[in-house]
Amino acid sequence: MRPTDRGVRIDAPRLRARLDDLAEISPIPGGGSCRLALTDEDRAGRDVVRSWMIDLGLRVQVDAIGNIFGTWDCAPGAPVMTGSHIDTVRTGGRYDGNYGVLAGLEVIETLMTAGMTPSRPLSVAVFTNEEGARFQPDMLGSLAYVGGVSLEAALDIRAIDGARLGDELTRIGYDGPAPVPGPAPHAFIELHIEQGPLLEAEGVTIGAVDGVQGISWQEVTITGQSNHAGTTPMRLRHDPAYVAASIAVFLRDLATEMGGNQVCTVGKIDLAPNLINVVPATATVTLDVRNTDEELLQIAERRVSDFLDDVAAREGVKIERRRLARFEPVVFDPELVDRVAKIAGAHGHDVKRMPSGAGHDAQMLARVCPSAMIFVPSHLGISHNAAEHTDDEDLVAGANVLLDIMWELAQREPNEESS
Ligand code: GLV
Ligand code: MN
Ligand code: MN
Repeated sequence: MRPTDRGVRIDAPRLRARLDDLAEISPIPGGGSCRLALTDEDRAGRDVVRSWMIDLGLRVQVDAIGNIFGTWDCAPGAPVMTGSHIDTVRTGGRYDGNYGVLAGLEVIETLMTAGMTPSRPLSVAVFTNEEGARFQPDMLGSLAYVGGVSLEAALDIRAIDGARLGDELTRIGYDGPAPVPGPAPHAFIELHIEQGPLLEAEGVTIGAVDGVQGISWQEVTITGQSNHAGTTPMRLRHDPAYVAASIAVFLRDLATEMGGNQVCTVGKIDLAPNLINVVPATATVTLDVRNTDEELLQIAERRVSDFLDDVAAREGVKIERRRLARFEPVVFDPELVDRVAKIAGAHGHDVKRMPSGAGHDAQMLARVCPSAMIFVPSHLGISHNAAEHTDDEDLVAGANVLLDIMWELAQREPNEESS
């Protein structure tokens, strides 16, 4: 019998309190948090989550890329793992990532309190640098955990502020001894807010996430001719700011023209010297291009590349490209997705099968074990913004689905060996 069938449910005030306590560590105006990966704020957040793991009696391990695992060794074998991340973008809300980690702790505490012992270990992961806001690529900790990037290469990545990732890990005391890549869990299930508007708009409480769209990130540096803003005739300009703006417009038009799930974003433009009366010397622009379909994503990438060639030739500027991340679309384990839908239905919730627009650690774990995700609504679809909000009722609904699914995944067939 599932825990909720026995009347066992997660403790909503306790989950709420942990979410609020974590958010208060690094607050920003508007109710959100700023914990860019491997900063002092991230360390403070890690310290508190780790102390909660210790309070619960979990075995806490930190690996060589700084991922933290709190494991309830209640049975032999590979654990059923949940978790997410607690690093944030600079303008983070209080739910993105944090909810998945803290709901995982809540599941374990609920089962412990109810005296229900699963037949496999349960583990809660806090993955390093999921956001990719300070170090690229995103989902780096989970990528390294599954062997998708070598530890050496990951430790050598430079932050947007120039710091080396390995040095920052050591500085904050999270360069742990556990090996990377790490052992494959029995299964991985991640609970997360949707971060988009669909569930709320359709009045649906639970998303059974069947995949994650592909992500293509690059940074382009445009070098032109810096000059006087008043004296340089328009026809003689080689203006990186103009080219940066054209790229942003092109991406927007491309996404509109392609339609479907195509999305494109210019999220960062840095001009130098960045002064009112100087035609800039350089512009550095980030391009975020995503699609659920790999072929369409490749078409979008080619169109972007052709545009960069054209605009460089037309405007007489040099454009250098640097790849920051490239992940193909991921399809989650269909059986696990069905299980999410079935449990949510049994809880009386409407369920929507949907892909994720955002990147998540579960997409990396899917390389080594059956994986899927549970979504709950995001108010107005707002995320990566301090105003990010999910109603308590929905947070609790998602956590109770997580409770039942982790319990079920930890069951063994009557004659099954311990592995
Ligand atoms: C990670 O949060 C992303 O940008 O999808
Ligand atoms: Mn997230
Ligand atoms: Mn995020």
